[in-house]
Amino acid sequence: MPVLNEYASLARSLVSIDAAQFKAAMRCMASTVTVITSREGSVSNGMTATAVCSVSAAPPCILVVINQANKSHSLIERSGIFAVNVLSADQIAIAQHFALKPDDPLGRVDYRSGLTGVPMIEGCAAQLECVVEAQTKSGTHSVFIGRVVFVQETDRLPLIYRGGEFVELSRKSD
Ligand SMILES: Cc1cc2nc3c(=O)[nH]c(=O)nc-3n(C[C@H](O)[C@H](O)[C@H](O)COP(=O)(O)O)c2cc1C
Repeated sequence: MPVLNEYASLARSLVSIDAAQFKAAMRCMASTVTVITSREGSVSNGMTATAVCSVSAAPPCILVVINQANKSHSLIERSGIFAVNVLSADQIAIAQHFALKPDDPLGRVDYRSGLTGVPMIEGCAAQLECVVEAQTKSGTHSVFIGRVVFVQETDRLPLIYRGGEFVELSRKSD
């Protein structure tokens, strides 16, 4: 397919947009706010994250994207487990807490231990506990694909992040 190859080669030669342009476009996306929890031995942690996505239903897998500089990254890389806690609309304080690398991350947060011992935060819209199946690095971040081994869902509305601020969803009536 010489024509396709020609276009592919042309596409690869294009210069990337700069980081500011990239961030401006990403700010237009509305994303569900989660806290990714992790645990290795006696060390537990949590980090606020919006880069979370469904991958497949069979087997049930999701992906999370985590900065390699984050404490959570090394915990998940070594332990091979994590949980995605989908925050409910009234959990903004928890989102703010876990974005700030607190000294005692779980100290004042209500949680229970999941099947793998990873912290599962109470009051969330949903929870998904995962075992890492694959990891791939891209730039500053890693994509971890997790096979889901436990879920709990509720009808609570999730917390949303858009344009650098937390926003609420509302139900549309017909
Ligand atoms: C709304 C919001 C979304 C975020 N999403 C991500 C994300 O998807 N991946 C990531 O690596 N960091 C994300 N962050 C930044 C982390 O929450 C932050 O760096 C955290 O303190 C890392 O904690 P740790 O070093 O204890 O793991 C987000 C922060 C906020 C406020």
